[in-house]
Amino acid sequence: MNCQRLKNWVEERYDVEEIKDFAKKKLVPTHKYEIWYYTGGITLFLFVIQFITGMILSFYYVPHFEHAYKSIIEIVTKLNMGWFFRSLHHWGAQLAIVFLFIHVWSTLLLKSYRKPREFLWFSGFMLLGISIFFGLSGYLLLWDERAFAAVKVATGGAGNLPVIGNFIKAFLRGGIDVTGETLIRFYAFHVSILPLATLFLIGLHILLVQYHGMSVPLSLEKKAHKEIPFFPNLFYKDLIIWLIILGIVVTLATLVPPEIGKKADPLAPAPENIKPEWYFLFLFQTLKLFPGEILGLNGEMIAIILISCGILFFFLIPFFDKKSNRGEKSPLFTWIGIIYFLYFVIMTVFGFVS
Ligand code: HEM
Repeated sequence: MNCQRLKNWVEERYDVEEIKDFAKKKLVPTHKYEIWYYTGGITLFLFVIQFITGMILSFYYVPHFEHAYKSIIEIVTKLNMGWFFRSLHHWGAQLAIVFLFIHVWSTLLLKSYRKPREFLWFSGFMLLGISIFFGLSGYLLLWDERAFAAVKVATGGAGNLPVIGNFIKAFLRGGIDVTGETLIRFYAFHVSILPLATLFLIGLHILLVQYHGMSVPLSLEKKAHKEIPFFPNLFYKDLIIWLIILGIVVTLATLVPPEIGKKADPLAPAPENIKPEWYFLFLFQTLKLFPGEILGLNGEMIAIILISCGILFFFLIPFFDKKSNRGEKSPLFTWIGIIYFLYFVIMTVFGFVS
């Protein structure tokens, strides 16, 4: 079948003109902050890499506490290009989280969450939570001593939440301690529940972006600004940026393959100076600031409550920032965004060096 016949075949069945018309009409504002618009697309691209490499790895990974570690060693040493796909999956995850954080702070500081985009913000926030849980659940699948200890600390921390803490801890662990049951649970989360939730939420997120169109920063909203077609102008730019990101992930995956520690031994004491993945360091460091007991109450529980309040405030920001919703400047919320950012960076750096 030549190209013309294929085109006719499709056109007889589908209203291609309508799709072309829609593509022509999709306009995107262009201004000095437009670089931040690419961060969502980069995250999306990295998620696609994660889905593809994850599917390849799942053909060979064995989710059982006696075989999991060995199956990864075999993927890396015996499978053709196995080390490369594992490394791509590792670096894709790291960069996805980096760009996700950049995307969150850019939409926060540009106040893109303001009316009528509240649900866009909420769907994005849920994607952030899911992405972090993707990281934690994937980390345990390696079943080495560092991952084992990190998951023990993280699920133990969740247990400090008042009222529901013990339920969450037992639910995540599949029992009272981190065991082979936890591995099966985390595997189920990592390869089925979280990907399904992600697909649904990404679909919703993109649909909402399409519905509302891209926001214009408050400072430019009342001034004249240009709009350019998304196809092909911005779409080509997206493709070029994705190609550069692919180059970076492939280079990192080739030159810096992730390490594999010693196999986890549930009966052995936790290794010394154990640290979680970098994106958990600010939480880990915050917990260290609190003494064991404050006014007769469990210090860790107080820390977890304060952290949860901070996260809840972040989630509900579109409701608190009334000025932005009215189209007025709201420097207070710019400062809140900057303080959150600085806190995250400073605590992460402290976590690395201490
Ligand atoms: C898997 C994770 C995510 C993906 C794939 C994703 C993807 C996208 C894409 C492609 C856009 C349109 C272009 C852009 O502004 O970059 C967008 C816009 C947006 N995203 Fe996300 N996003 C994710 C997570 C988040 C998170 C965690 C938040 C915030 C908590 C968020 C909030 C927003 C907002 C408010 C907009 C609208 C920007 C505007 O209209 O100016 N997103 N996202």
